[in-house]
Amino acid sequence: MNVTPFQISRRRFVKSAAILGALAGLPHWFVDEGLSARAAEPVPRSANDKPGIGLIGCGGQGRGDCNWAKNFGQVIAVADVDENHAQEARKQFAAEQHYTDFRKLLERDDIHVIINGTPDHWHTLVNVAAVRAGKDIYTEKPLTLTVDEGRRLVREVRHHQRVLQVGSQQRSDGRFRLACELVRNGRIGKLQHMIVGLPTGPREGPFTKQPVPAHLNWDYYNGQAPDWDYNGHNTHWNFRWWYCYSGGQMTDWGAHHNDIAQWGNGTELSGPTHFDGQSLVDMIPGGYDAAARYRIECRYANGVTMSLLDENTGSDRSVVGDRQKTPNGVQFLGSDGWVFVNRGEIKASRPEIIEEPLPANAVRLYKSDNHMANFFECVRSRKDPICTAEIGHRSISVAHLGAISVRLGRPIRWDPLHEEILEDREAARMIRRPMRRPYDWSFIA
Ligand SMILES: NC(=O)c1ccc[n+]([C@@H]2O[C@H](COP(=O)([O-])OP(=O)(O)OC[C@H]3O[C@@H](n4cnc5c(N)ncnc54)[C@H](O)[C@@H]3O)[C@@H](O)[C@H]2O)c1
Repeated sequence: MNVTPFQISRRRFVKSAAILGALAGLPHWFVDEGLSARAAEPVPRSANDKPGIGLIGCGGQGRGDCNWAKNFGQVIAVADVDENHAQEARKQFAAEQHYTDFRKLLERDDIHVIINGTPDHWHTLVNVAAVRAGKDIYTEKPLTLTVDEGRRLVREVRHHQRVLQVGSQQRSDGRFRLACELVRNGRIGKLQHMIVGLPTGPREGPFTKQPVPAHLNWDYYNGQAPDWDYNGHNTHWNFRWWYCYSGGQMTDWGAHHNDIAQWGNGTELSGPTHFDGQSLVDMIPGGYDAAARYRIECRYANGVTMSLLDENTGSDRSVVGDRQKTPNGVQFLGSDGWVFVNRGEIKASRPEIIEEPLPANAVRLYKSDNHMANFFECVRSRKDPICTAEIGHRSISVAHLGAISVRLGRPIRWDPLHEEILEDREAARMIRRPMRRPYDWSFIA
């Protein structure tokens, strides 16, 4: 499909106050470097300079993203299977039109960019349909529901030459980039182990059948998942605690912190080769079924090991906290020190690890201080954004494979090159799931 191009006038750049906030709490050398190198954000000069934006999935995050995106473009239309959400978003963004079927929105040639804020089990069908319709996409994490979806999406994005930014916004936060650069440059010696601390998920239920609200198209919402009853706890926000839609905190926060671990380890286009997962609590029959408490031990081909733990599960190797619990964030443990990073702080075993500037010949990573601005910049330049489909796919594959090991209660071996689970046919089948018709690939054919 041909999309009417938006016109790009001369670019104007501003230095935003947000950047100063984003650099708070970081060492002077890193802040100075960031401010002097800063190209700043692309600001449209006129209506013609604004890409048309379509929001698909008008819940909390979708609307939050769209509010951010409207600084760089013009919101034209919104879509949601919940009529109320669609109408509210249309009003909020003064959009021309709202739809309850996202495919209608994708037919518009005045929309160039899609914000995808649907639940995880809808991400891929929406994203693949959007790239086929010639749109660029800012899509929420976790990028996919399965490893197989990720492989297909990466192929489609490449084939249609679209720009896709995964909403793993920690990559555009200086703390995380600094931590990864320190690790990559040997500041903690040889990286040996990583501890990823994720929130503990809810353990609630059982839930019983409830009448479906008149404004919600339940069948469409449920989509590719097996047919089951609406229970009042299996749609908005709470979808993430059900395995048929998501993977609990393991995928929800795992998408963020696994991404940072992979970045620091230099394996962002690969992944671990071994996963040994355990669920540490029985879930309540008829209640949320994505593991609430878990431990997954992973190993990479470069010898680095990684523990993925929920916050109520401790580790003897933990260097922060009391070892009975694991703090939210990523701990990088090396032969000569450690670095810990989360959304509030970065700290290290010795101050100089952070405070000493990196040398001129150091390995530096992709730099972005504003995840949405980076996306729109790439929509214009056609360069890769900081979190491409391939990177997002590889980060969330770590969580999907961990979840498979947890659900089977046994270790699995993974070949990151060919993206196959080895020597375990039952596990190998789990990298894809049966999709309920009509919400399978034919839905967007
Ligand atoms: N980047 C972050 O830090 C961050 C934070 C929160 C949420 N998220 C992600 O954003 C996504 C949405 O989460 P949320 O908390 O906003 O959920 P939500 O339940 O508030 O919103 C999801 C919306 O999508 C709609 N929807 C469902 N199926 C649809 C379809 N086929 N077509 C159109 N609309 C559909 C729902 O009706 C709902 O309005 C999730 O994948 C979540 O992981 C990311």
